[in-house]
Amino acid sequence: MIVVAGGTGTLGTRLVPRLAGAGLAVRVLTRDPARARHLSGPGVEVVRGDVRDPASLARVLHGAGTVVSAVHGFAGPGGVSPASVDRAGNAHLIHGAARAGAALVLVSVVGASPGHPIGLFRAKHAAEETLRAAGIGWTIVRATAFMQTWATIISQPLHASGKILVFGRGDNPVNFVSAADVAALTARAVTDPGLRGQVLELGGPDNLTFNQFAAIVQETAGHRGTVRHIPRPALRAMAWLGPAVRPALARQARAALAMDTLDMTFDPTPTRRAFPDLPETDIRLALKHLPDDLAARADGLSGERNPPRR
Ligand SMILES: NC(=O)c1ccc[n+]([C@@H]2O[C@H](COP(=O)([O-])OP(=O)(O)OC[C@H]3O[C@@H](n4cnc5c(N)ncnc54)[C@H](OP(=O)(O)O)[C@@H]3O)[C@@H](O)[C@H]2O)c1
Repeated sequence: MIVVAGGTGTLGTRLVPRLAGAGLAVRVLTRDPARARHLSGPGVEVVRGDVRDPASLARVLHGAGTVVSAVHGFAGPGGVSPASVDRAGNAHLIHGAARAGAALVLVSVVGASPGHPIGLFRAKHAAEETLRAAGIGWTIVRATAFMQTWATIISQPLHASGKILVFGRGDNPVNFVSAADVAALTARAVTDPGLRGQVLELGGPDNLTFNQFAAIVQETAGHRGTVRHIPRPALRAMAWLGPAVRPALARQARAALAMDTLDMTFDPTPTRRAFPDLPETDIRLALKHLPDDLAARADGLSGERNPPRR
């Protein structure tokens, strides 16, 4: 039995059908089973639980052979935070997996480190350390920014106001990867016991500035709106004034500033060489399928398909 925490998310929605399609029994952990409707099918069970509440995990983890953590508390419903979900929630999952005698595959971020300016990256590092110390079989899958997530965020105002958002100057290169490729690597980490004790890092084929990324989002949406830059001083004000009032917004502003200024580039060559049959989804293909994928979250499965690049 594979338990997937975060099975309803952008990555999880692509991972669960892969695992079930390979004939594995999959149990999706979600705070709200209605969010997992599109995952229902043979071999998929949905169980309510919250990683912040260790008592809710015992039933979910019972009988698990491998647990996947694809959760995060950077944004989203339920007053989540990196501290409560990525740090404490992952610790609950890891200790629960240990009690169940299961291995755990942790989805983390490229750049996770104790002194990183983005709180999520510090919390992911803490989860990685907890996992290494837990005495169970483990694999860590670190990914760069998901194309689908960022295209959705910056294009939110596109259809309503004709504007696309770029945080800061938008001229700093960032590596973007398709969540479909990360799902393929995560599935591999689940099914290949030879990958225990390894950290696998995956990025996409391109390092793009947000200005370039926004142009591709507009092109694939067939909607050429104006770009609205949120200037760095406005992001700084949100980051420093927001925590007491709107902590999620303050977090996003701090992350946006970091993405506009830090080295966010990545070279995926070593992992691509180690896993030559892994899909390498082109950004235009990933974004072309995005509207279908978002609709599929309500009533079906992702339609994104891309053959491996050889
Ligand atoms: N998005 C990116 O750019 C990116 C980049 C690198 C790595 N990652 C990592 O990839 C993984 C998947 O990210 P994603 O973007 O696919 O996530 P997402 O679409 O934002 O979905 C978040 C998931 O976390 C679950 N979750 C949040 N709080 C929870 C809680 N308290 N208890 C149980 N489940 C909870 C949600 O489940 P319910 O709402 O159903 O409860 C949902 O399935 C995460 O580990 C993330 O850190 C993401």
